Amino acid sequence: MPIVFEAVSHIYQPGTPFEWKALEDVSLTIPDGEFWGIIGPTGSGKSTLIQHMNGLLRPTSGRVLVDGLDLSDRKTDLRKVRQRVGLVFQYPEHQLFGETIFEDVAFGPRNMQLDAEEVERRVMTALERVGLPKEMKDRSPFGLSGGQARRVALAGVLAMEPRVLILDEPTAGLDPQGRREILNLVGRFPEMGMTVVLVSHSMDDVAEYADKVLVMHRGRVHMLGTPRELFARRAELEAIGLGVPAAVVLADKLRERGWPLPPDVVTMDQAVAAIKAVLVGRKEAEGL
Ligand SMILES: Nc1ncnc2c1ncn2[C@@H]1O[C@H](COP(=O)(O)OP(=O)(O)OP(=O)(O)O)[C@@H](O)[C@H]1O
Ligand SMILES: [Mg+2]
Repeated sequence: MPIVFEAVSHIYQPGTPFEWKALEDVSLTIPDGEFWGIIGPTGSGKSTLIQHMNGLLRPTSGRVLVDGLDLSDRKTDLRKVRQRVGLVFQYPEHQLFGETIFEDVAFGPRNMQLDAEEVERRVMTALERVGLPKEMKDRSPFGLSGGQARRVALAGVLAMEPRVLILDEPTAGLDPQGRREILNLVGRFPEMGMTVVLVSHSMDDVAEYADKVLVMHRGRVHMLGTPRELFARRAELEAIGLGVPAAVVLADKLRERGWPLPPDVVTMDQAVAAIKAVLVGRKEAEGL
């Protein structure tokens, strides 16, 4: 069942001098099994938005529905919702605390009152899914590399077997290889039937992985579309201080020089294929 926002507004610290309208009249539906990227300038409401998806924040007005359950309804069991909708915060490794990796990853499933056998099964499966060798389970989660620590944190959320996984800039502060590893991992979750919502500052990552991209600006839904639809609107994105993927910049430069590239190039793989097609076409023309 989808995540539905109906005219959601959120005001922080209402009635104080710090009152701030962080979300305004947001309506959207995230269908099951899709990969959504959320982009937007700093302070545009991305983190506020995703915290509404598992009830960590409540709308000031409007409604959020998950699996048809109204998260504002006092009768809704938010613990159940949080098991279905897992949220990985920015720098999640700051929340690691267990004496061992096993203990850390087991925290969520234990809270779900699962028996020891099931907890163990889930921890081992989650470690496997994030690509950590099972021998590591008895190690301390401290002193791991940045990428490894982030995988442990991710495993902790996966161990609850959520159907929706929300990640707030999961690659921030990692080196290029660490970024790639985490993204490749996350990119495979929709194939396993999971819905993924990824907040990112990287247009390249969003172009490569997302089915749909949501652009937030000043607390509102500014644009929504597939990466191809969205990154074709470069001027509008640049007008609010956002960029476009490197492949779009490259393709635009080549078009200026007369290369007949198709309009919908957004990833480097697509750029390479389009450039090759033009070169092959030229060769054939010369051969005639
Ligand atoms: N607890 C709070 N009290 C008051 N204002 C807040 C609070 N938390 C966030 N805000 C404000 O709400 C707005 C949206 O914040 P939010 O963290 O959702 O933005 P963001 O798009 O995630 O930004 P970033 O890209 O920097 O992470 C910002 O102007 C922020 O200052
Ligand atoms: Mg944020």
